[in-house]
Parts: sequence; C-alpha cells; structure tokens
Amino acid sequence: MDGDTDLKAFFGPKPRENPLGAVVGGSLSGGLQVKLDARLTLERLAVGRYVVIQGRSGRKFFGLITDIALDATNPEIAQRPPDQTEPFLEEVYSGGMAYGTLHVSPMLMLDEDDPAPRPIKTIPAHFSTVWEASPQDVERVFGAEDSSHFYVGTPLEMENVQVNLDLSRFVERSSGIFGKSGTGKSFITRTLLAGIIRSGLASSLIFDMHNDYGWAVKDEAGREYKGLRQLFTDGRVSVVTLDEATSRARNSKYDEVLTIGYQQLEPEDIEMLADLMGLSDIQTGALYYLRRRLGPSWIAKLLEQEDAAQELTDLVESGRIVAGTLDAIQRKFESFFTRMGFLVPGAGDDIVDRIFQRLNMGTSVVLEFGTYGNMLAAYILVANFLTRRIHQRYVQRKNLAAGKKADEPRPLMIVIEEAHKFLDPLIASHTIFGTIARELRKYNVTLLIVDQRPSGIDDEVMSQIGTRVTCLLDSEPDIRAVFSGVSGASELREVLARLDTRQQALILGHAVPMPVVVRIRDYDQAFYKAIGLVEGEDLARRAKRGAETLFGQ
Ligand SMILES: Nc1ncnc2c1ncn2[C@@H]1O[C@H](COP(=O)(O)OP(=O)(O)O)[C@@H](O)[C@H]1O
Ligand SMILES: [Mg+2]
Repeated sequence: MDGDTDLKAFFGPKPRENPLGAVVGGSLSGGLQVKLDARLTLERLAVGRYVVIQGRSGRKFFGLITDIALDATNPEIAQRPPDQTEPFLEEVYSGGMAYGTLHVSPMLMLDEDDPAPRPIKTIPAHFSTVWEASPQDVERVFGAEDSSHFYVGTPLEMENVQVNLDLSRFVERSSGIFGKSGTGKSFITRTLLAGIIRSGLASSLIFDMHNDYGWAVKDEAGREYKGLRQLFTDGRVSVVTLDEATSRARNSKYDEVLTIGYQQLEPEDIEMLADLMGLSDIQTGALYYLRRRLGPSWIAKLLEQEDAAQELTDLVESGRIVAGTLDAIQRKFESFFTRMGFLVPGAGDDIVDRIFQRLNMGTSVVLEFGTYGNMLAAYILVANFLTRRIHQRYVQRKNLAAGKKADEPRPLMIVIEEAHKFLDPLIASHTIFGTIARELRKYNVTLLIVDQRPSGIDDEVMSQIGTRVTCLLDSEPDIRAVFSGVSGASELREVLARLDTRQQALILGHAVPMPVVVRIRDYDQAFYKAIGLVEGEDLARRAKRGAETLFGQ
C-alpha cells in the first residue's frame, strides 16, 4: 500500500484529543481568527506552531499560528476586570466573555481523495474546528528524508520531527541565507552545502571570505568544527587558497594556491573596484582606453614594471588622456597591487580552466581567502574575476550541449557572502551576479547568497531568490526585503521577529511546501556521521581509488 494513504488516516485530530478552538472569522489573504476553547490556556501556545483545521466539506487545512491575542465580548471587561479576590467571577468571565484568539495563516489544503498537500486556494467555513498539528501531520507535510530531501532541523517544540528541505528545488533557483551577524548563517550554509555535496545535485563554488567552510572552523569560544574538506575526504571537495601562508599556519589542507596574472585582468575586473580604489568615473573610463592602447601588459606598464615611459608620454601628448588622470590611475594601481599578494606579474596560468573542470566533474571548490578576507576589494575582485570566466564557460558548454556537441554542464551553485556588495541596486544590472540571478538557471548556474543586510540587495534580484532561509533580523528594511514578493508576508513578520537569536530560521519559498520555523540541527559529531564521514576511511578509500586508476586502464 502506498504510504501516503496510510498517513492520511492519521492526519488531523486524534481520538480523545480536544480541539484548540473554532474558526470565527478571517480571509484568505489576511489569515483566520480562531476563538480558543474555554478550557485551554493561551499560554501553552506560541507563534510558529502548526494547526490542522477540519473543514466542513471533509477537506483539511494546514496552517501556522502567526499571532495570539486576548479578546472580550464586552469592552467593559478591559475597563473593569473582575476582582482578583473573587476567583469565581474570574472563572465565569474566562473563556466566556473573555477569551483568547489565535491568528492562523492557512498554508496548505488536503482533499479527502487526494493525499498530496496543495497550496491554499480557499479557507475553512465558519466554526470549523482547529486542532494542534501532531508530529505525524507535520511529517506528512515535510516529507521523508531521502537522497534529495535533506534534514535541516526540527519544527519548534517538536524535537522528533524532521523538516526536510527539497535540495533539488533549492539548487534549481538562486537561494539566500539571511540574518544578523552571529545568528548562525555560516553554520546553516555549511550544513546545507554538506547536504548538497553529498546529494551530488550540484557542484558548489564557494567564495569563503572568513574561512568558514574549508578546513577546521573555529567559533568564538575556540571550539573547532570540521570544514567541508574534512567531511568529504574522497576528493568531492577541493580547497584553493589565496593566502598560502595563513592556510599553512592554520594547518589547513589545501589543494592549490590561486594566483592571477596581471595580464589576465581586464578593465571590467577593475571597474568593479572603482569605489574601493577611489577611481573617479573619468579614471575608470580611461582604463578601457589604456588597455586598448597598451595591450595585454597594460598593468605592468602602468606600474612601470615594464618600460613604457615613451608610450605613456605619447598617450598624453596625443591628447586622449590627461596627465593628471594617468598619474592618479598609476598611484592608485601602485597602492592596490602591492597589497594584493595573489596578483602576480606575467601571464598567469590556467587556474580558471582547472576550476571549471573540477566543478564540471562534480567536485566542489572552496576558495579560501585567508587574511585577504579582511580586504573587501580582494573578495570582490576574485569573486567577480572567477565568476565571470566560469559563467562564460558554462554558457559555451551549454550552447555546445544544445547542439549535441558536448554533455550538459553539471549544475553549479556559486556561494557569495556580503552579497549586497555585489548586488546593490546601482550595480546589480551590470555585474555577473545580477546576470546569473536574473537569467534563472538558463546555463545551469545559480547563486547562494549569504547576507546580513538583505535590504542592500536590488529588489529585482531579491524577487528571483527562490528559497529564503532567514534567521533573526531586526531592522525594518531588512525584514521587508526578505518578504518582498511573498504573499501573506505581514503575518510571517511576527514569526520572524520572534526567532531565537541563533540557530533558528524561518524557511520559505521554492524548497519547502510552506513557510516553516526551524531549529537548525546541531553541527556536531552526530552530523558528521549522518553525512557519512567515517573516521579513518580516508586512506582506505584513497588507496582503493589509487588502485583503480593504476589498474583500471
Ligand atoms: N547549527 C549549529 N550548530 C552548532 N552551533 C551553532 C549552529 N548555528 C550556530 N551555532 C553557534 O552560533 C555561532 C554563530 O554562528 P555563525 O554561523 O558563525 O553566525 P553568522 O554567520 O550568522 O555570523 C557559532 O559560532 C556557533 O557557536
Ligand atoms: Mg558568518
């Protein structure tokens, strides 16, 4: 027999259980008012909990408590409450003239003859009974854990129920992780990445600003957690560092050191940094002209590492560039390039191709910034530089695949932190990240943006974010931003405002059947084991793979 029909039998009220109350008003857009049963006390309930409503037609509704209120039939009660010394009067009033009201947002409906929960299109009739959802009800809605449904945490007050995220939907569109600093964004991101890597649904390219993902992550109390490279010891994760000295000092394992040759840099790469480098519009515009005139070694020439004195003088004399502009550019380049140790003179190597190959083979790449993570300019430069070029290869590969000349490129999810720096309204329309968010997954590339200030992200980009995992936020504009384009948002705000300060999140959108408040699972030994890490397996597996490559051909 199919499991759904089995489950259906116990969806909703259990025998002998008392209902919470009855629906007394409301609307589809504004949510339902539920008058609490007189025998129950409000104080047992909390926003973020689930209810099941038994409609009059046999249809059941599944919803979320989004607010709780005290009401009275007679306004006099507020002015003249019963005397505290008269328990009898208090009892007479309570539940009768004075009662509790729940505000419930209905989210899904279940028809008697169709086991699958569907989005809500109508509401239950007057006086329909409302029950607290049982763990089984919640389980039915969020499905069982399987190769693409990943256990992210538990609903509030239901430690034994799993909320499983549909990872194939999560990577199918761009997604976001939001929340104030210290709320657990990096932990959630690492947890989800572990699930995605294990599932093989997409490769990830992770721009790891604060050394949160690759190797031996420390929290503020000095406790150490395993990075992704330690969880996947079989080559599914590779670490590329920008700062070899720091990686070595931290004893972190890395597979490769990233350097970018001056000749690989184009004016577009520098333009992204105009603000941070203090380049004026005129100076930025002049970069394109300089690149055209000076050729591939334009940067070495501007830094006077290659003799170009005559060439530069000629440019000024030709009148196309003012001496002051050229001087300013040279000064700013000088101070910038000396700080970026990973930018090296010369033609550079084929690092972009190597990273593309790895991603396309299913290996995820963590780009570790080391101390460069404190330099926003380094982060923006490298993330833009690699993303533009890797995206370009995806476009080429996808076009070849369309002509049946190559395989489809493997889906890629690019992870960036401080996303508003890449996607603010002024630049989102002409940066690669804005392009990727807007083109959806046309070329099999999506974004995972991690940000503490979602209000800084362009509205149009936000509207493309399919799944939003939001920890506590307290600024009004940020809260508004994460709910942009979400129906029923006003009620969910109450839920968001009441999250714990860490390790709790409201998840909504493409990868969940309905909005859900989750206590995120612990990132600990039990998690490592669940992900499949077996201590000591590393060498054995390696040896096996080694033998296969030796004898396999
Ligand atoms: N899932 C989790 N498991 C264990 N500890 C967590 C978890 N989520 C958050 N924490 C704790 O909260 C701290 C802050 O989390 P972090 O992800 O660094 O926040 P953010 O990236 O939002 O600034 C962590 O250092 C850790 O101690
Ligand atoms: Mg963080």
